[in-house]
Amino acid sequence: AAADVILAIETSCDETSAAVIRGGKTIMSNVVSSQIDIHERFGGVVPELASRKHVESITLIIEQALEEAEVELKDISAIAVTQGPGLVGALLVGIVAAKSLAMALDIPLIGTHHIAGHIYANELVHDMAYPCMALVVSGGHTELVLLASEGEFRVVGRTRDDAVGEAYDKVARALRLPYPGGPHIDRLAHEAEEAIELPRAWLESESYDFSFSGLKSAVLAVINQTRMKGLELNEAALARGFQESVTEVLVTKAMRAAREYGAKQLLLCGGVAANRGLRSALAARCEAEGLPLLVPPNSLCTDNAAMIGAAAFLKLKREQLTGLDMKADPGFSL
Ligand code: KG4
Ligand code: ZN
Repeated sequence: AAADVILAIETSCDETSAAVIRGGKTIMSNVVSSQIDIHERFGGVVPELASRKHVESITLIIEQALEEAEVELKDISAIAVTQGPGLVGALLVGIVAAKSLAMALDIPLIGTHHIAGHIYANELVHDMAYPCMALVVSGGHTELVLLASEGEFRVVGRTRDDAVGEAYDKVARALRLPYPGGPHIDRLAHEAEEAIELPRAWLESESYDFSFSGLKSAVLAVINQTRMKGLELNEAALARGFQESVTEVLVTKAMRAAREYGAKQLLLCGGVAANRGLRSALAARCEAEGLPLLVPPNSLCTDNAAMIGAAAFLKLKREQLTGLDMKADPGFSL
């Protein structure tokens, strides 16, 4: 178990990644090849292009991961792969590679949930304690997940429309900023001297769900009205107003959920965890309330295979293996 060496593969969206993880904790390699330069000009991920690029890269990325880890295929004890959620054509590329390896080497195959990966990225750098609450924020997801014990997930809140990262990218696009727009909005928000006040979507008072499409529409309305009146738009103030609205709702709901479920830790993960406004606001609230906050380094927040290896290790430990007839599951539930 502690000596188990997992080769993990992640191809659910626009990153082709392979990693070698020992004992569920030690990253021996984590190779990530981003396709951003391909999708950039379209302002978002084009599924067909993503699959094709994964096919081109996957073998090379796996070889590189083995090489960097200084291991050979005979040293690998199991193959982990993202089974879903994600783009079906993209997932399939990783799955086919994983199945072939598991079959050829006659070792276990572990289909892994992408969000479990984002959450267990924390275990690669911290020691998780249960129960804990995870705030998962990325381009495809916005979820509050309760972990009552190791590997036991319960989604207590989720977005009803856009994911946070998606909202960031759409707002950035309206401001004619490059894709992905999250980091640009984050930077503008920090440069701003003032904020344009925007609404907060609290939904029903008891709900841990989120909604960002109304906020996005409010931002677009400000942009359109300003342009129509021929006025100059204070883009930084708008970015800051948007970021403040997003952050306040995320932080408030995450803290309330952590308290209600007696969480010993709050985990922040997914690509949007890189957001400076969100990180600092959450850190301040956790500090004030004496709740430990766990955040992986940025390289483990964005999509990568190391996190898939970390989550798969728990399943391997419990012998929760996946058959070779495994299928991509774009709507895979935790
Ligand atoms: O987790 P990730 O790499 O891919 C998905 O699984 O979706 O997340 C990518 C998302 C993009 O929407 C990107 O704009 C956003 O994370 N993002 C940010 C920041 N850095 C990346 N959003 C806000 N602030 C940032 N600093
Ligand atoms: Zn992701």
